[in-house]
Amino acid sequence: MVDTVTRAVASATPLPDRSVVPPVWGRIFNLVVDHGEGSWLVTPEGERYLDYTSGIGVTNTGHAHPHVAAAVAAQASKLLHGQQNIVYHEAGLRLYDRLAHLLPGGPWTAFLSNSGAEAVEAAVKLARVATGRPAIIAFRYGFHGRTGQAMALTAAKDVYRGAFEPLPGSVYHAALPYCYRAPGGGHDPSACTCDWEEQLDLLFHQLVFPDKVAGIIIEPVIGEGGYIVPPPGFLPRLREITRQHGIMLIADEVQTGFGRTGEMFAVQHWDVEPDIIVMAKGIASGLPLSGILARSDIMAKFPPSSHGGTFGGNVVACAAAMATLDVIEDEHLLANTRERGAQFISGLRALQARHPSIGDVRGLGLMVAMEFVKPGVGDGRVPDPAVTKRVQAACFDRKLMLLTAGTYVNVVRIIPPLVTTEEEVELALRIIAEALDAASA
Ligand SMILES: Cc1ncc(COP(=O)(O)O)c(C=O)c1O
Repeated sequence: MVDTVTRAVASATPLPDRSVVPPVWGRIFNLVVDHGEGSWLVTPEGERYLDYTSGIGVTNTGHAHPHVAAAVAAQASKLLHGQQNIVYHEAGLRLYDRLAHLLPGGPWTAFLSNSGAEAVEAAVKLARVATGRPAIIAFRYGFHGRTGQAMALTAAKDVYRGAFEPLPGSVYHAALPYCYRAPGGGHDPSACTCDWEEQLDLLFHQLVFPDKVAGIIIEPVIGEGGYIVPPPGFLPRLREITRQHGIMLIADEVQTGFGRTGEMFAVQHWDVEPDIIVMAKGIASGLPLSGILARSDIMAKFPPSSHGGTFGGNVVACAAAMATLDVIEDEHLLANTRERGAQFISGLRALQARHPSIGDVRGLGLMVAMEFVKPGVGDGRVPDPAVTKRVQAACFDRKLMLLTAGTYVNVVRIIPPLVTTEEEVELALRIIAEALDAASA
């Protein structure tokens, strides 16, 4: 048994070399952290970093929010594991009920699992079993995770799938309306001329019968693939097409959900009601929890024991999710997300006017991005991953943590916690301005 003395000695021992972590965890920052508070990560030496990665869109309530931390501590001292096939527990029952009422329409029933990819798997299995159809359509630039089925759906970047063929079949990829990169020249999404609908029709005539398609999965705002906000008519029209063919519309809201875009779920921006919503990341402020929300009549078609898992809907994670939802409501985080997002977009647009290497500034709520190009080269939209990396590094030198995204890794994405303040956003914009100069962007 480890007593307190042994533990104190252990924490005084130098940390193991970082090479104990395998290289498959492609490294973004070489940073050891001790703790986090709100928008900040703090090193053992007390250096503070403004964390606008949110651990890839997870810590929506900020690091170690006191209400969430207290709920976790209280639950952990009562019960750590109450397996879902074997028992019911209060945190789980309350969360299932609350999730079912999170979105208008429905009625909805939730299913809980552990990771985003696992929830994507659940969504695909449910769409197949509920429709009795085999095929799934996903979109170019989409990212859905790293398990077999999720990899087969993913088309954001070849590194996520290229070394792992063969992948599960009966998956087809449709053309995404990516207005900035439309063939022949970019255009404003509000006057979209992308031919995605013609391309989808072609897919139905060349590759797969629509009545063999169980589901179409889409990220309402593309994440990993480059923070691409769709043109306003896209999701409503996709909803019409899927209804017309009896195809389930699956919204992968793993990154966009739980307030990230300024609505609880991003589909609400367009008044679109999908059949299945995939949830993870921000749902429990950092504890591993994921799930799907499906219309109740669809969820009823998932035969008992045909899906599940040992850890899904862990009781401590459920308590964290309940507290996360409290914080989103009590602290009016949707409103803050919209305001801070607008602040970011106008700040970045001002910087774009001075830096022609910023080809596009876009975002929805606190999913904000700058796409970097080589000005004066080709048609002016040639991706510039080198400058993107330099900007990210120059921000990090100034203690602002940002991630990249995009097929060509030429997008800097900004994912602050939804609790971030006006002053913090101003600070971040000042650092980005300095970093653009330092990176000769
Ligand atoms: C839209 C989307 N779907 C699915 C996933 C996979 O989630 P996880 O990494 O928790 O498996 C991610 C992760 O980045 C994501 O952004």
